[in-house]
Amino acid sequence: MAIMVKSQGNHHAGVVVNDRDKRLLRQHYPWVFGRSVKAVPKDIADGDLVPVYSEDREFIAWGFFNGRSQLRIKLFEWREESFNLKEKIRERIRRAYLFRHQVLKITGQTDAYRLINSEGDSLPGLIVDVYGGSAVVQVNLLAFYQNLNLIIETLGDIVQVDRILVKTDEHYAEKEGFELRERWAVGGGDGRAIIRDGDLLFAVDLLGAQKTGFYLDQRDNRRVVKGLAAGKRVLDCFCFSGAFALWALKGGAKEVVCVDSSEKALELARENLRLNHYAARIVKAKAFDFLKEQAAGGERFDLIILDPPKFAPKKKDYAKAMKGYFELNRMAMQILNQNGILVSCSCSQQVDQESFVAVLNQAAISLGREMKVIDVKTQAPDHTFVPSCPETRYLKCIISEIE
Ligand SMILES: C[S@@+](CC[C@H](N)C(=O)[O-])C[C@H]1O[C@@H](n2cnc3c(N)ncnc32)[C@H](O)[C@@H]1O
Repeated sequence: MAIMVKSQGNHHAGVVVNDRDKRLLRQHYPWVFGRSVKAVPKDIADGDLVPVYSEDREFIAWGFFNGRSQLRIKLFEWREESFNLKEKIRERIRRAYLFRHQVLKITGQTDAYRLINSEGDSLPGLIVDVYGGSAVVQVNLLAFYQNLNLIIETLGDIVQVDRILVKTDEHYAEKEGFELRERWAVGGGDGRAIIRDGDLLFAVDLLGAQKTGFYLDQRDNRRVVKGLAAGKRVLDCFCFSGAFALWALKGGAKEVVCVDSSEKALELARENLRLNHYAARIVKAKAFDFLKEQAAGGERFDLIILDPPKFAPKKKDYAKAMKGYFELNRMAMQILNQNGILVSCSCSQQVDQESFVAVLNQAAISLGREMKVIDVKTQAPDHTFVPSCPETRYLKCIISEIE
């Protein structure tokens, strides 16, 4: 069923989606899955920008089509009139920059921030993080891969960086049907950068890194930890490069233990401690084993941070993830002193905040303890989210006292 757009230029046949999903999509839910698609005209190629219609011929939005991907269309623009795609991409990059600089005034705090956050900045599948004089572009959508030169050029005009690294998340690239190894689009070097957050310095390894190099999304949550850490014995569990640990030390923690299973992460943690003239005990271990051992040895902490990797990458993992969160938090509570503070995080898109708080509460109750919530935090505001798509508000950081 081919439908033509009535506006001038950009005459493209449209994709028709199920009437059942119309309301949600018109409310700016940005993802159309394969099961919702009723008809696709023959002349559409993967990566094309196409108009999307409901079965009753109502225009819904413009979106990027990819027949290979289960997430068949990523919606991009809800206004019907035609537009110049390149201009629109440039304008959205500019807007994202102004938001960070004029509204958030982010560089007053740090020189490392997320400049473009995918759906949150109406550029679905594009992430750009700035690390001082370097930028890392992560392309997860074929249409942006096809427009990479334009994106690099626009970034070069707007952001003051000496080098730009381009990479992709392997999982997305395979789904989207393109290959992109990490490569320098501007400048080069070994991928090392030193960033500043507040007056703390962090070494970042941009090449082959977890995420794009640093967990920028926890910026504000680390400052909460700083405010709670004075005089405390702190455990930073799943510490990566030790950023929570350093903020705890800055807040006057008496003693800090950092645990991670990755040697590469721990090397960075050691370097970051040295850079800031602090000391902590570094332990390479699997978190569950470490917590069990500590419990058996009668060790106790006053403040524990749990920031594990995603337990539920997909919907089908939900029940297993909830069980995992229950057990992990229960084990941590067992080595937490009375009235100790638990900073418990989840970055699983599939787990909503309410369910996460509920599972922490169940863990406390199962030990005969009471949980008092001090603060409910999420990702830092440069990690913009879309209110119509709860999945984009992926980070939960619940700070509580366990009596
Ligand atoms: C979300 S990141 C933590 C980020 C860190 N808290 C920060 O603020 O930078 C998760 C970390 O868990 C580590 N990890 C993954 N599985 C683990 C396990 N079973 N035990 C301990 N660490 C693990 C990874 O190496 C990674 O550094």
